[in-house]
Amino acid sequence: MTTNEIRTAFLEYMKQKGHAIVPSASLVPENDPTTLFTGSGMQPMVPYLLGQPHPLGKRIADSQKCFRAQDIEEVGDNRHLTSFEMLGNWSFGDYFKEEQITWMWDFLINELHLDVNNFYVSCFKGNDELHIPKDEFSLAVWKKLFKEKGLEVSAGENPEQDGMLPNQHVFYYGEKKNWWSRSGVPGNMPEGEPGGPDSEMFYDFDPQGEQKIHENSKWKNEPCHPNCDCGRFLEVGNNVFMQYKKTANGFEELPQMNVDHGSGLERFACALRNDPDIFNIDVYDEAKKLLVERSGKQYAEDEITTFAMRVILDHIRGATFLIGDGVMPGNKDQMYFVRRLIRRAVRFARNLGINESFTASVAKTFINTYKEEYPILHEKQDSIFSELEKEENKFRKTLEHGIKQFEKVATRNISGVDAFDLLQTYGFPIELTEELAKEKNISVDLEEFARLKKEHAESSRTAAQGKFKGGLGGDGEMEVKFHTATHMLHEALRQVLGEHVQQKGSNITSERLRFDFSHDAKMTDEEKKKVEDLINEQIAMKLPVIREEVSVDDARARGAIGLFGDKYGDVVSIYRIGEGTTRGDKNLFSMEFCGGPHVENIGTLGHFRIQKEEAVSTGVRRIKAVLE
Ligand code: ALA
Repeated sequence: MTTNEIRTAFLEYMKQKGHAIVPSASLVPENDPTTLFTGSGMQPMVPYLLGQPHPLGKRIADSQKCFRAQDIEEVGDNRHLTSFEMLGNWSFGDYFKEEQITWMWDFLINELHLDVNNFYVSCFKGNDELHIPKDEFSLAVWKKLFKEKGLEVSAGENPEQDGMLPNQHVFYYGEKKNWWSRSGVPGNMPEGEPGGPDSEMFYDFDPQGEQKIHENSKWKNEPCHPNCDCGRFLEVGNNVFMQYKKTANGFEELPQMNVDHGSGLERFACALRNDPDIFNIDVYDEAKKLLVERSGKQYAEDEITTFAMRVILDHIRGATFLIGDGVMPGNKDQMYFVRRLIRRAVRFARNLGINESFTASVAKTFINTYKEEYPILHEKQDSIFSELEKEENKFRKTLEHGIKQFEKVATRNISGVDAFDLLQTYGFPIELTEELAKEKNISVDLEEFARLKKEHAESSRTAAQGKFKGGLGGDGEMEVKFHTATHMLHEALRQVLGEHVQQKGSNITSERLRFDFSHDAKMTDEEKKKVEDLINEQIAMKLPVIREEVSVDDARARGAIGLFGDKYGDVVSIYRIGEGTTRGDKNLFSMEFCGGPHVENIGTLGHFRIQKEEAVSTGVRRIKAVLE
């Protein structure tokens, strides 16, 4: 069955069971300030779960396009997606557990012919403190259904410790796994939020426990069970029994007992193929074919290729749908995530050797794949193509700067200093430097790189914590001003002398700043004047200094300078001088990784003057400057 056929079959099935089928809501929630994106099918249904009557009745079903921004950096393995569809059905105070469980079984096992031997479920084990009982009812229904197929199954009471014993197909878990609300576990729910125990459904990709999937994983000596994350099982769907509302003291029953069922359409397709790689399902076929053609590489050729193709497939599909719903790439809110998706895709395309415009062609394949179900993509295709191309071309320029610098230093083996400079100034992750070096058959001094990185991290921490421990009073205030002025000097030198300029050292007293940087020649009087003028012009503009916490990935993509961690998912703080958020924005003067502190507005700095410019060692110059 194709993914489109599975969607149709589900909606048809639910229609037969008396549900009104509604179209997917927009990826940008209406009238819901609590979240940026629609990330589950129930989001547009919240008012009806709380008791407002739905105009189409008590039984509703749909296939909802979803976007989960929090998963961007998880994408690349065989299961994570930011962009997916959720098949859903709801009972607003109508049917409850027995019907829901029986229908899901009927649909999956009888209609889709999922192998019952590979099918597992979980139920809520109850919580005395919350006065919410163990869900023995759901267990009994599941057991009866297994039995009808000849499987006498028992329940695992403590799978996290015991693993799976023979014939166990139902497992009890606590609220971390078997409770669902928009804000997760009961303790995190705000007052008024609906939630309830749930019963999840899993597919087993490795029924013999041959450990093909997890032989090298950190789970190889852990007990395996449906929720253990080792890769053997995939959760395909979730039946939430939404019967509670959070109150100041605990929970109360909602005026009606609801069902909120959501299943991953792509995950159903994946289970039906009995192949744990979700990127092998048909909705990616056309896009994958295009990537294979453009790169000359096969999808499963090696890990780097597979990872890069997955990122591109997921991200460009997500960007296509989001632009289709009117979210353009930009710096704020939803727009910023579209920008991130495109930039990450462009970065990973390099690993495939795709260095020319490709995102619009990939989008075109998705528009075609979804032409029946999401005609809005076709209607909006002009803007989808032009937005993708614009963003892609802009970002490619940033990337090219870094690559030019690499070419300059790659006439010999790459020293740790060069690799570190590439990271610090051009945002080149060490893996990218290594990869480019490999293509040229030269080496990278990883040991020296690691040492420099560590030293730098330690010294910036000391700078941030030690030097400014005086706070903002007395001498501390002057030091903070010099600290901000140092960022400005760093940027001004790069603009006047060139992008090869990098910070080699910095020292601040209450009297002056001292800044060491890479540059080969003595600065001319004219250059010094240009640097001073540039800084004083910015001061006159009274630009704000803005601190932001961002992932390393974002900081890099936006062109911040300075040292980043190099682990995806690391959060760093950056300081911007000016409102712009990306290198190249005309109202952004400087953007640098830093722990602070800084002044709030550079208008308070006074007049910047260079006192002295001299050599420190070969290729390194030193400036002493004052604020007057
Ligand atoms: N709302 C439930 C979920 O997203 C079904 O898992």
